[in-house]
Amino acid sequence: MAMKLNVNGKPVEVDVPADTPLLWVLREEVGLTGTKFGCGKALCGACTVHVDGAAKRSCVTAVGDVAELPIVTIEGLPEGDVLHPVQEAWIAENVPQCGYCQCGQIMSAVALLRTKPQPTDEDIDAYMSANLCRCGTYPRIRKAIHRAAEAIAAKAGGK
Ligand code: FES
Ligand code: FES
Repeated sequence: MAMKLNVNGKPVEVDVPADTPLLWVLREEVGLTGTKFGCGKALCGACTVHVDGAAKRSCVTAVGDVAELPIVTIEGLPEGDVLHPVQEAWIAENVPQCGYCQCGQIMSAVALLRTKPQPTDEDIDAYMSANLCRCGTYPRIRKAIHRAAEAIAAKAGGK
């Protein structure tokens, strides 16, 4: 079935069954491989993308349910050559270890900061523990989210 998607601000046409998981469409049809397959059962968060601004597990999201809605993947976070503040904070805090979970972690962190611009440690732990990291990078994730929150607030305040 042919359908039109809006991925990272660009129109994309795909021809797949409407119940195909968005994850596979992004990776196999659109060629955006930053979004990872971990469990395929909404349990790990490796496949997290944004749909209409909210974090969504693309492995259990039927593409037909999100056609016409804006979809953003890790590849769509930077503005031109400028990385998103969360990506900058991830680099500054050396968050990744093996890296496999990290695109999903970053997408979740961006979604968290949209709803809670100044999260506490508890807020971060509660939200981010749904994204599994087998390398145990959670302490650095926490630091990076605080750093990104400060950077975003400073930018908004014109500092
Ligand atoms: S691959 Fe989607 S939550 Fe694990
Ligand atoms: S960095 Fe290895 S699984 Fe998270």
